[in-house]
Amino acid sequence: MASTATLPTKMKAWTYAEYGKSSEVLKLETDFDVPQINDDQVLVKVAAAGINPIDFKRMAGMFKVTDSPLPIIPGYDVAGVVVKVGSQVKKFKEGDEVYGDINEKALDHPTQFGTIAEYTAAEEKLLALKPKNLSFIESAGLPLAMETAYEGLERCHFSAGKSLLVLGGAGGVGTMIIQIAKQVYGASKIAATSSTGKLELLKSLGADLPIDYTKQNFEDLPEKFDAVYDAVGQCERAVKAVKEGGHVVTIYGAVVPPATLFLLTSDGATLEKLEPFLESGKVKPIIDPKGIFSFAQTPQAFAFLETGRVVGKVVIAINP
Ligand SMILES: NC(=O)c1ccc[n+]([C@@H]2O[C@H](COP(=O)([O-])OP(=O)(O)OC[C@H]3O[C@@H](n4cnc5c(N)ncnc54)[C@H](OP(=O)(O)O)[C@@H]3O)[C@@H](O)[C@H]2O)c1
Repeated sequence: MASTATLPTKMKAWTYAEYGKSSEVLKLETDFDVPQINDDQVLVKVAAAGINPIDFKRMAGMFKVTDSPLPIIPGYDVAGVVVKVGSQVKKFKEGDEVYGDINEKALDHPTQFGTIAEYTAAEEKLLALKPKNLSFIESAGLPLAMETAYEGLERCHFSAGKSLLVLGGAGGVGTMIIQIAKQVYGASKIAATSSTGKLELLKSLGADLPIDYTKQNFEDLPEKFDAVYDAVGQCERAVKAVKEGGHVVTIYGAVVPPATLFLLTSDGATLEKLEPFLESGKVKPIIDPKGIFSFAQTPQAFAFLETGRVVGKVVIAINP
């Protein structure tokens, strides 16, 4: 591990200096300043960075009104080793293995210097100790998706014994919603949608009723659900599948009442709450079988995520 005395001042980082498609704007910088840390931050030597659809949406300029200035290093999710701590930091020390989503509010001034770099700075409250049984690569794909799943279910007032329909069960967020609803909240029944080839995966994650959206319209089922979690932007249809008095939460696209839009607030405390479920193996990281890329392959990692067909997560190995 690097000690403070030997920390470099320059690093390699993927950056973009203008908005656009990842294939056109992403560039590898080899002489980028290592970020400075504030009193409440730690500097993390990045071992792996998970990527999320928000990264390419932000890169396309969809949130430019509230974005930080260019050039930007993309990346919200990180797993790595603390190499420096700010003067107010209480939870962590140098050498701790941590993970987290480093942007408290995904759309509201996300950091200019994200996680697809050799080093990144993060507020300690956004991080947690990495689960001991998981590798950096496994951990790096978890924070944003897992927190969205857990906190979105909370927004649905979800609790033990309730039934749930998940729209988009095979993606980064969906694979976590199914597992967390079953293992953490104690769902009585989980239905989830995907295309034909992913139905077995949904079952293995804990879905009782996998629904092939290429063959069946979920809103035509006679059965209605206590809660519907829409992770694909099908709110208009989602509200037709909920029981009277039930809850619909959507994380993307237009919102139709009585559904509510949920936007994640990143919080290391959520990761800490879920740690026992990760360490016991009840909730598992799901990474696409083709979803691990080297640092040099970052543009290919984005191209893969942008297909919208990924199973679970895509992760970039940086200093694994
Ligand atoms: N509001 C928030 O705080 C928040 C947080 C996280 C994510 N999000 C947003 O939520 C969305 C999902 O994120 P993610 O990370 O899960 O994306 P992702 O991993 O890229 O999702 C890919 C998965 O979506 C499935 N899918 C696509 N269209 C579908 C459909 N019509 N029905 C069912 N499944 C479908 C695909 O399965 P098939 O190949 O079987 O179709 C694929 O496995 C993104 O738009 C993201 O930006 C919002």
